[in-house]
Amino acid sequence: MNQVRIDLYSDTSTRPTPGMRKAMAEAEVGNEQAKEDPTTNRLIERVADLLGKEDAVFLPSGSMCNAIAYRVHCQQGDEVICDKTAHVIHYEVGGPAALSGVMIRPMDGVNGIFTAAQAEAAVRPVNSNHHPRTRLISIEQTSMGGGGTIWPQETIRALGQVAKKHKLAYHMDGARLMNAAIGSGVKAKDIAAPVDSTWLDLTKGLGCPVGAVLAGSKDFIAQAWRWKHQFGGAMRQSGIIAAAGIYALDHNIERLAEDHANAKHLATLLADIPGIKVDPKAIQTNIVFYDVSGTGVPAPELHKALMAQGIRIGGARDAAIMRSLTHLDVSKKQIEEAVQALAQAVKDARPKAKAS
Ligand SMILES: Cc1ncc(COP(=O)(O)O)c(C=O)c1O
Repeated sequence: MNQVRIDLYSDTSTRPTPGMRKAMAEAEVGNEQAKEDPTTNRLIERVADLLGKEDAVFLPSGSMCNAIAYRVHCQQGDEVICDKTAHVIHYEVGGPAALSGVMIRPMDGVNGIFTAAQAEAAVRPVNSNHHPRTRLISIEQTSMGGGGTIWPQETIRALGQVAKKHKLAYHMDGARLMNAAIGSGVKAKDIAAPVDSTWLDLTKGLGCPVGAVLAGSKDFIAQAWRWKHQFGGAMRQSGIIAAAGIYALDHNIERLAEDHANAKHLATLLADIPGIKVDPKAIQTNIVFYDVSGTGVPAPELHKALMAQGIRIGGARDAAIMRSLTHLDVSKKQIEEAVQALAQAVKDARPKAKAS
């Protein structure tokens, strides 16, 4: 395989910068399981404060944050309301079913966003001997499957009212919560105020090699610690990686605006390629989905042609839809090079596509 020079596959494709590596090398460390790692303790305090929650816990991944939150909030047989595009449904290997024994009630949202009325209509009757117990509303900020859409504050609050009315727990997958904060201008703690639990992924956009931080009430985090141990997520000298997280909070949040501007630029350039369908005005953060079916060339073929040049333009979800993400390790100039290469690949492949 060619060395990938330009990687738009994911905002996890970043490498720690020299500054981040220096912070990691110099981190003070201790035993995280005993809550004695000073750097991890500083990181969780910072994230709890950023998200306006009482407490937080450091975990190896975002998937583990979702898994533990579901485990704390739900019992076997409970039902979780979330959008049909949710990461927990499609990309966590059935984790909600396997680890928490829950059912998922997928909502038919628009670009990953469903309404309070949809959630309200999905809540099951209580005290029924037939239905699962509705227990949790779970949203994803931003919505990855929706194309990086930011949940409007009114909708987040309205869903909070539904949760309160029906005594449901309320969780926010915050893989790209800081993208939402920067993209909307709403403070992270205000975004997270209505939910019981949320988290930040340090490896998406923020440029860290490992880690995510789950936040909630003191009681929620005390329970989360039990599952962290059971799921194998309790660590030792985790200060080495927590230091990267602190560095990211100090250096890599405000700059997400640059990724968002680059994503809009990418979409604008893509829209000029004949046969590619994308609306640059719809891009809210760092994710761009685009339909290549009008080019007559299947997405996996375009993907392969660019990979041969060391350019990974993203994932091909199917024959029509491609996905590209902007991040810290990809510049505006590289995006322009990638789009040029894509336009050329479409041209080169067209005669073949027509002939077949
Ligand atoms: C919306 C969303 N939630 C959860 C995750 C899982 O995070 P991790 O890869 O850190 O386990 C991802 C990762 O891509 C994601 O995009």
